[in-house]
Amino acid sequence: MSRRALITGITGQDGSYLADLLVDKGYEVSGVVRRSSAANLWRIEHLLGRIHLHPADLLDQLSLIKVIDEVRPHELYNLAAMSFVPASWDQPMLTGEFNAQGVTRVLEAVRQVDPAIRVYQASSSEMFGKVREIPQTELTPFYPRSPYGVSKVFAHYITVNYRESYDLFAVSGILFNHESPRRGIEFVTRKVTDGVARIKLGLADSVSLGNLDAQRDWGFAGDYVRAMWLMLQQERADDYVIATGVSHAVRDLVEIAFGHAGLDWKKHVRTDPKLLRPAEVDHLIGDPSKAKRQLEWTPAVDFTALVTMMVDADLARLSTEPRHIANASTW
Ligand code: NAP
Ligand code: GDD
Repeated sequence: MSRRALITGITGQDGSYLADLLVDKGYEVSGVVRRSSAANLWRIEHLLGRIHLHPADLLDQLSLIKVIDEVRPHELYNLAAMSFVPASWDQPMLTGEFNAQGVTRVLEAVRQVDPAIRVYQASSSEMFGKVREIPQTELTPFYPRSPYGVSKVFAHYITVNYRESYDLFAVSGILFNHESPRRGIEFVTRKVTDGVARIKLGLADSVSLGNLDAQRDWGFAGDYVRAMWLMLQQERADDYVIATGVSHAVRDLVEIAFGHAGLDWKKHVRTDPKLLRPAEVDHLIGDPSKAKRQLEWTPAVDFTALVTMMVDADLARLSTEPRHIANASTW
């Protein structure tokens, strides 16, 4: 009998890569989709017919109980969230409802339906915020700098608490930034690679950015979903930092992306103070030693390969369907 997995956030970047991985491994894969006036299935179109989709929402406890009861998964990956940091200042209450209490709802639903279900919670390096040590490990104290980061700290500790209170197999993966051609267009990597492709193809002349000095530890989403799966295959539930251990500035990202397309970034990049954040996370760099040691996980794609892969994908997409996605410089 094949194992069953339920993914919340299956329509998102990570959900789609995780669904690919689990389908390849022979899992029966189900995903949660929330009601919207227009379908948002572009990342999982290639999987339709091989996965099951169920309506539910992190805001609605009964819908979560219902989907978990229907699917009866062995593994539940809670990837759904409001994941764009700037939006969390515009909608702090909703961010807390989704990202903090939404996790409590998922854990309660699991406890009620079947406490043997193994749960993965998508935690974030944003929890480290104004970092207390370099590099950051599983033991580094948190200092979140946005309503998003604060909501993820709650979610992390409620996951740990349910593990300790009710003996749930609940793990928290503290993942550093990870990107791909399926990344949302508003995040800086994709905004840059989409912008480069538009400029190269004559569809735009410039791209506007905020803080070019911020540094992140960027990896490839396809590598990171493998770590999620590994965490749920261990004998004991635990928390892990997943990162490359290398950081780069936004400026490096820009240089590599424009350079790959044969463009001089200084001619095309504008800076816009409106894109600066009320409180910035200046420098994230993770120490993935524990994951390497215990999960035998290592990333396969480095920063340059990631950025050039994304530029190539945007060039290919825009060469065939130039108006598929709105111009990123509106964010
Ligand atoms: P994403 O592309 O923004 O996807 C988020 C997913 O959550 C989408 O499927 C979205 O559905 C769903 N969702 C949002 N609100 C929901 C609700 N109320 N009920 C049900 N579903 C809801 O994010 P991602 O990059 O794949 O990230 C996945 C998870 O990892 C998130 O929890 C994120 O915070 C966390 N994380 C991401 C990174 C990273 O660098 N990517 C790093 C650390 C942690 P719609 O398609 O309907 O909007
Ligand atoms: N989005 C965006 N747009 N970011 C910009 C821009 C811009 O025009 N210009 C500079 N940046 C800087 C931001 O100020 C930030 O320091 C950095 O680029 C990365 O921004 P994002 O790509 O939006 O990602 P993030 O680091 O805020 O959050 C992502 O990673 C977290 C893990 O650390 C998201 O995926 C979160 O969901 C995730 O938890």
